[in-house]
Amino acid sequence: CGIVAYIGHREASPIIIKGLHRLEYRGYDSAGIALLNGELNVYKKKGKVSELEAFLTDKNVHAKVGMGHTRWATHGEPNDVNAHPHYSTSERIAIIHNGIIENYAALKTHLMQQGHEFHSDTDTEVFVNLIEEIQKQNVCTLEEAVRLALHEVVGAYAIVVLSKDAPNQLIAARKGSPMVIGIGEGEFFVASDATPIIEYTNEVVYVNDYEIAVIRDGKLDIRTKEDVPQTPYIQKLEMELDSIEKGGYEHFMLKEIFEQPRSIMDSMRGRLELESGHLNMGGIRAYEQKFVNAQRIIVVACGTSWHAGLVAEYLIEDLARIPVEVEYASEFRYRNPVITERDIVIAISQSGETADTLAAIELAKSKGATIFGVCNVVGSSIARATDAGAYTHAGPEIGVASTKAFTAQVTVLTLLAMIMGQKRGTISDTKLRELMAELDTIPAKVEKALELDTEIRQISEIFKDVPNFLYLGRGYNFPVALEGALKLKEISYIHAEGYPAAEMKHGPIALIDENMPVVVIATKDSSYEKVVSNIQEVKARKGRIIAVVSEGDTVIPQMAEFVIEVPHTSDVLMPLVSVIPLQLLSYHIAVLRGCNVDQPRNLAKSVTVE
Ligand code: G6P
Repeated sequence: CGIVAYIGHREASPIIIKGLHRLEYRGYDSAGIALLNGELNVYKKKGKVSELEAFLTDKNVHAKVGMGHTRWATHGEPNDVNAHPHYSTSERIAIIHNGIIENYAALKTHLMQQGHEFHSDTDTEVFVNLIEEIQKQNVCTLEEAVRLALHEVVGAYAIVVLSKDAPNQLIAARKGSPMVIGIGEGEFFVASDATPIIEYTNEVVYVNDYEIAVIRDGKLDIRTKEDVPQTPYIQKLEMELDSIEKGGYEHFMLKEIFEQPRSIMDSMRGRLELESGHLNMGGIRAYEQKFVNAQRIIVVACGTSWHAGLVAEYLIEDLARIPVEVEYASEFRYRNPVITERDIVIAISQSGETADTLAAIELAKSKGATIFGVCNVVGSSIARATDAGAYTHAGPEIGVASTKAFTAQVTVLTLLAMIMGQKRGTISDTKLRELMAELDTIPAKVEKALELDTEIRQISEIFKDVPNFLYLGRGYNFPVALEGALKLKEISYIHAEGYPAAEMKHGPIALIDENMPVVVIATKDSSYEKVVSNIQEVKARKGRIIAVVSEGDTVIPQMAEFVIEVPHTSDVLMPLVSVIPLQLLSYHIAVLRGCNVDQPRNLAKSVTVE
């Protein structure tokens, strides 16, 4: 979910609506706004922010204080009633909330006994009534009531609270869900991330867990849940407004796919110095010995970031000879894993806010492991929870399906594996030099792969209506097959499976007939011959082969129905190139099917619930 709030001298509602559009990638089941102008009015609608906007056209929206929310449903189906903001029973207090209240059922029973009424299925409505009840019982200020309520709720939250009885005040608090406050001239902005704030101010304060911010009379006061005043730490945002706008592309996803030559370069900047032969990564300096002596590396991540983690497994084992385990953060944290002080945990996350990944980090930390973060969003919760880390520098990624963040993650992880290999002496100088030189050519090779766009669009026309897809790859291209299948599922709603090519014969081969498209990533690498055999196996069952091959391949074109030629590079770096046509394939198929590419149904970019 995304939250945004404003208090100051301007009209609040246009700022909030624009902010909600920017945050829409975080969830788009429903949206709502509350405005405080003597009255406390709440307007909300199922569907996109544009539907809320249309609904507001004939309403009185004049107010200098307000808050808005775009939702990704957890409790209760997406509809008008479950949309945020939520009123308390007296309708004198309103709240927006990102997160989950775990003990809502017990609280709700108690509050109903006290005469509170509930209209929605949400845990949030419980929260706001709890505040109201506490204020009534204790005859205290709103601020005090919010603070006491936070002691009673279990779970995660980022909330903003407005009250009719406190006309010039906005209260915000967080635990486990992101929140940033923008500081302007006599005005303040509160949001889930900096994108709604950037065009007004570049001075921000990241709210920490268990902190409550009270904004009143042009002043910001931050206190802990225990009421201890905190000095706000003001940081400068470096984000550019351009980077969060579409720049002439039809969709954010397409823009982000085409940004990859630059974003990969940005991930390497200052880290790969070809001339001097130096590799640098500021984040590991203090932990160098730990990395060199690591007994094991555990990667925790979700979704596309997990796929980048799988590439890291191949890279680190290959170049640095340290055993690597790649874990879904959600599974890892609940299965009583064995973790020791000699383990290094690498947490990979584009948003830096994924709740499961964050919880996995906390668990590993409590067992004494060293945590290294690979995040894209600067200042995000995961970036701050880790001991050390490297930012991917891909720039804001708005399309819900991750593209440039993936290649940036793989680039950073490649550099990390190379550095570890160098320090551990598991990679020769010559090999390292060669790899550095080759890595330097990757942005140009990605640029070349992007020229396949028109060709891939034509292939997409042919396959746009099929119900299933299979993706196969081996070695470094196996995680790419998984990522290709995930991209297609996410945005075109076509069922797709990724498989290690050789494993196909243990199951998926049964699915193959003349209607089954099989995307095989068959670039010239050490398992090329084996993949060629796998292609034969598909062909023998009349499967429709779409092969991603290295430029100049003369063998596979004789077997495959469609051949997509990508520039050649070493095995180790191939995922950075071979994933590009798969991103384009899923994009074009989704567009041709009329799907909402940037905001696919049921998904959210930043999953801050467990
Ligand atoms: C969501 C997004 C995916 C992303 C995953 C992990 O499911 O839709 O694109 O890969 O979360 O997100 P993270 O921000 O931790 O990389």
